[in-house]
Amino acid sequence: MKKIIAFAGSNSKESINKKLATYTASLVENVNIDILDLNDFELPLFGVDLEKEQGFPENAHKFLNLIKASDGIILSLAEHNGAYSAAFKNIFDWMSRIDGKLWSNKPMLLMATSPGARGGASVLGIAKNRFPFNGGNIVSEFSLPSFNDNFKDGKLVNDALNSELLKAVKTFQNNL
Ligand SMILES: Cc1cc2nc3c(=O)[nH]c(=O)nc-3n(C[C@H](O)[C@H](O)[C@H](O)COP(=O)(O)O)c2cc1C
Repeated sequence: MKKIIAFAGSNSKESINKKLATYTASLVENVNIDILDLNDFELPLFGVDLEKEQGFPENAHKFLNLIKASDGIILSLAEHNGAYSAAFKNIFDWMSRIDGKLWSNKPMLLMATSPGARGGASVLGIAKNRFPFNGGNIVSEFSLPSFNDNFKDGKLVNDALNSELLKAVKTFQNNL
């Protein structure tokens, strides 16, 4: 059976992006799902001096190995000031120093959500433009606006948005 990983670009214990990633992963059929959490991969703040002095932290290798061992990635990015959260940028930077093509050409369903009406559109745009340089293979994408209105009890409650998500999941599934 194919194996996918799903995670949020957030270290919030109540991450809405983790909720969206978890729900989305449950819509993929006939796969083993590993829900990851950045809190389980604590890392020092990336810096070139620290890298020179101490090398790569074990958790950066661990996360990268989970990506490489997967058949597909579901990632939902938190948006902080129009960009990646610091926690996501940090693990991204560490992994990119070990392997510049860290996403390893794995099919990726890329998402973002926020409580705001733009649904993390800015961070989604940033990632969409950047990830292909890092071995990213984004096969479908989805942005969920106004999370608190549209997501309740662990699922999407807006029919139009749910159909859009199902379409994105189908494309992802077909690329696995
Ligand atoms: C420092 C900070 C900056 C934020 N900037 C944005 C922003 O630019 N756009 C946005 O839609 N939401 C912004 N938010 C609100 C986040 O979308 C919200 O906290 C969301 O829950 C983050 O996702 P998460 O729960 O998965 O961590 C910001 C929140 C924080 C703490």
